[in-house]
Amino acid sequence: MKIESNTVLITGGATGIGLALAERFLRAGSEVIVCGRREDKLREAKQRHPRLHTRICDVSNEADRRSLLAWATAEFPRLNVLVNNAGVWSPLQIAQAGPFERIHQDIAINLEAPIHLSQLFIQHLHAQESPVIVLVTSGLAFVPMASVPVYCATKAALHSFALSLRQQLSSGPIAVVEIAPPHVNTDLGAPGSNASGMPLDEFADAAMAGFARGDPEITCGFSTKASRASRAELDALFKQLNAPKH
Ligand SMILES: NC(=O)c1ccc[n+]([C@@H]2O[C@H](COP(=O)([O-])OP(=O)(O)OC[C@H]3O[C@@H](n4cnc5c(N)ncnc54)[C@H](OP(=O)(O)O)[C@@H]3O)[C@@H](O)[C@H]2O)c1
Repeated sequence: MKIESNTVLITGGATGIGLALAERFLRAGSEVIVCGRREDKLREAKQRHPRLHTRICDVSNEADRRSLLAWATAEFPRLNVLVNNAGVWSPLQIAQAGPFERIHQDIAINLEAPIHLSQLFIQHLHAQESPVIVLVTSGLAFVPMASVPVYCATKAALHSFALSLRQQLSSGPIAVVEIAPPHVNTDLGAPGSNASGMPLDEFADAAMAGFARGDPEITCGFSTKASRASRAELDALFKQLNAPKH
């Protein structure tokens, strides 16, 4: 995938991995649009990068997804890269999870939204130069952490969707790229909660290098190990990830 001269829409791009990718696409001379729910985060990102375009959008809401398509393709007719990055992390015990609506909300953000946005944008992307759909999954798509069961299930499902979508679109111009990050130091879940993760810049540089090489699946560290593991290795990784903490 070429890095320069794109018009890139990144969901959840005002913070974390999305913003780090946005900064790198901007630096390489692409137009970048980011969307998210929090106006203050979008404003902060725009202050740091005045060339960034921002849009309030809740991707869990179907009407918001449709109006994102209508607005983005009208304002940026050359939009050729959709990065489905928005996501939420909610540790929960299924037996005590309370109203299903909370679980449904996480599924809507992490899984329904990228599937529906991919579907919505396909027709537009098909007519563009070097079109790409990016899906951000996780190393936990390959081996789950039991304390975050719905998150891990949505990422496993999205990994599966990426394989099918790539196959379905393989005879046309749209490339499908999966990014499966390892643990990365962002505010996912809560501010400061991922301080032991890989430095954000290091991960974003690795992801951009993967784009430039044309990797269909971009992994790093733990996610490389998990994505290539045998069943026996996955069982060992599962044990390790879910070992009781003393
Ligand atoms: N950090 C890690 O260790 C790690 C590991 C594997 C995978 N990932 C994946 O990487 C992606 C980015 O996460 P991150 O680590 O960069 O965390 P982050 O900084 O919390 O980014 C998540 C972004 O998604 C946006 N978002 C959440 N719900 C949304 C909604 N309903 N509509 C629109 N935007 C929404 C958030 O903005 P608003 O709250 O303002 O909407 C936020 O900007 C996620 O898909 C995550 O699962 C992260």
